[in-house]
Amino acid sequence: ADQPAPRISVIGTGYLGATHAAAMAELGFDVVGVDTDPRKVKELKEGRAPFFEPGLPELIRRNVAAGRLTFTTDLAEAVAVSDVHFICVGTPQQSGSFAANLSYVEAAARGIAENLTHDGLIVGKSTVPVGTGARLRAIVADAVPAGIDVELVWNPEFLREGKAVEDTLSPDRLVFGGTSARSEATLRRIYQKPIAEGSPVLVADLPTAELVKVSANAFLATKISFINAIAEVCDAAGADVSLLADALGHDKRIGRQFLNAGLGFGGGCLPKDIRALMHRSNELGAHAAVGLLQQVDEINMGRRQRVMDLALKALGGSVLNRRIGVLGAAFKPHTDDVRDSPALNVAAALHLRGAQVVVYDPQARETAQRLFPTLGYADSTEEALTGADLTVVLTEWDEFTSADPAALASIVRNRTVIDGRNCLDAGTWSRAGWSLYAMGTVPEV
Ligand code: UGA
Repeated sequence: ADQPAPRISVIGTGYLGATHAAAMAELGFDVVGVDTDPRKVKELKEGRAPFFEPGLPELIRRNVAAGRLTFTTDLAEAVAVSDVHFICVGTPQQSGSFAANLSYVEAAARGIAENLTHDGLIVGKSTVPVGTGARLRAIVADAVPAGIDVELVWNPEFLREGKAVEDTLSPDRLVFGGTSARSEATLRRIYQKPIAEGSPVLVADLPTAELVKVSANAFLATKISFINAIAEVCDAAGADVSLLADALGHDKRIGRQFLNAGLGFGGGCLPKDIRALMHRSNELGAHAAVGLLQQVDEINMGRRQRVMDLALKALGGSVLNRRIGVLGAAFKPHTDDVRDSPALNVAAALHLRGAQVVVYDPQARETAQRLFPTLGYADSTEEALTGADLTVVLTEWDEFTSADPAALASIVRNRTVIDGRNCLDAGTWSRAGWSLYAMGTVPEV
């Protein structure tokens, strides 16, 4: 505690890095965020978040103004003025394979090591396949200038998009992997406030810490695919999966969260993480995990097809030239992220089959348009649904769940709605004259 406060660098300013950098500054540390993208750095420097995340712009602005938070494209400069270096770069799925692309984490570790001007601690936060930390230690040992002492440890991040700030400042748990007494003390000091406020610390070896992260995501994905498999049974048997999930959820061992059946999971994490774990488990000869995760992935992808089938059914066998109003493009509400978005994926599939698709999303129009410029886009629910032969709800934004079906009934051509997220009140919509298809919830009206 007599030591001066560690100065922090954060490599990568995506969802994880930008939030982590701002949160560490909020805790009172001097933080410099590094990114290779000059546009991102410029925006951040001006106190703006490069993506939509509730609460983050305020956090960035406040800490930039206080002089605790700066950004640069110059890794050497950032490393020179910092003691603890967080690796927060992406590990996307490799093209043509399920494996994670580790080139960015490797480059970050090597870059930090090469540029060290004094002793330091490198802390991996990115989601990586088990065994990566050990490889990075070898890379770092090779690149570090003589006479400089550096340690590499793992401290996985569990933040959810849409709740990133809250999850970073009050995490459910902190995992420190591969730490020495000294690096553990440094991390405890950095996270002093969340620890004092009750976040438990688990100290683990390096591979366990790496594996905790991907296992957590794999478990969440499994829970979603489990309920979606049961939703299929509900559909066939005339049962109601939402009621069933409520009843299951009362069992404390099960819990209600992540039991919302529907279109399934997407985003920048769950899909790629289960695939990377599948790939890594296969390399390690752990075949039970491979089989399980394969099923989880397959069930999940099947949900998108299920919505397509419902659309075909609702429109009498063909979507060709039919106008379809799509509500939702983001992979979940409260974000503008469309990476592997089930919603956008279904919208694009409908378009490919010749439908006139008009998409409305409260936040994700720009990101969606960049990915699928040929789809039609609207600026409101009303605009998207005007003259629609079919309405499809694919992201459960509040403004869709609270929309007035009676008002919308007068602007569509055909009062048929597919509720891909089981988020609409079936009674209200039926009373307003709508035919409703849901995902294992209400037998079609
Ligand atoms: C996920 C994890 O929840 C975080 O703990 C983790 O840190 C993060 O990945 C990551 O690895 O960085 P996130 O991708 O932000 O967070 O989104 P989630 O809230 O987990 O939702 C994932 C997907 O599952 C969404 O498409 C959502 O619509 C879907 N979902 C979620 C369901 O279909 N049903 C549910 O019951 C819950």
